Amino acid sequence: MKKLDLLYEGKAKKVYKTDEEGILIVDYKDDATAFNGQKKGTIVGKGAINNRMTNHVLRLLEKEGVPTHLVEELSDRETAVKAVKIVPLEVIIRNVAAGSFSKKLGIEEGRKLLCPTLEFSYKDDDLGDPFINRYYALALGLATEEEIDTITRYAFKVNEVMIRYFDSIGIELIDFKIEFGRLEDGTIILADEISPDTCRLWDKETREKLDKDRFRRDLGNVEDAYAEVFKRLGIE
Ligand code: TMP
Repeated sequence: MKKLDLLYEGKAKKVYKTDEEGILIVDYKDDATAFNGQKKGTIVGKGAINNRMTNHVLRLLEKEGVPTHLVEELSDRETAVKAVKIVPLEVIIRNVAAGSFSKKLGIEEGRKLLCPTLEFSYKDDDLGDPFINRYYALALGLATEEEIDTITRYAFKVNEVMIRYFDSIGIELIDFKIEFGRLEDGTIILADEISPDTCRLWDKETREKLDKDRFRRDLGNVEDAYAEVFKRLGIE
């Protein structure tokens, strides 16, 4: 497969065209941003860790019946994926109160929720990805009712599989964000990274933060946290 022109550069990834119909190459960067790009930095080694971790988790999810965009890992930082039209919804699942949920509701971080929650944000950087519900999504034509049902079902399934998997490597899955895309024929598939950038991951015993909150909040040992998660995956 040949890597062709750059199609799109985001905050943490570049996407390239390829010589194969319907296939793109994602190239993960070490760049890190927070607060909608207001805070910028570099997390050395992050690109490779996020690429390899994402693929490891996506393979597991595929085995458990969640369709994903993964085609083939090409190098430490590059992966071939199926081209999709992204559904402009950020889907956030939470198991434990943290981040914007804790802030908005005045609930201390770390309180276990009675059941997992799901929320949607409208994916729009200019608006700062505002919180919306399924009625907004329907009213704005962001997705159909059937698509929202499918996305909701897959998101909870991803949560179930990931809670179990991370628990087995000593990590508590606090929350995460995922995005979905449509193939040409309209099939909905998971089309996102799954990494310490997009999940809150706490050590199960000490509840030490092993994710991007270390960067967002200037907690130090950012690279160490990413490396620790990667080590626990046992994929070297
Ligand atoms: P939040 O508590 O800030 O709303 O974040 C919830 C989860 O979503 C957390 O695991 C981090 C992830 N996330 C992203 O992946 N991208 C983003 O732009 C934001 C704000 C959060």
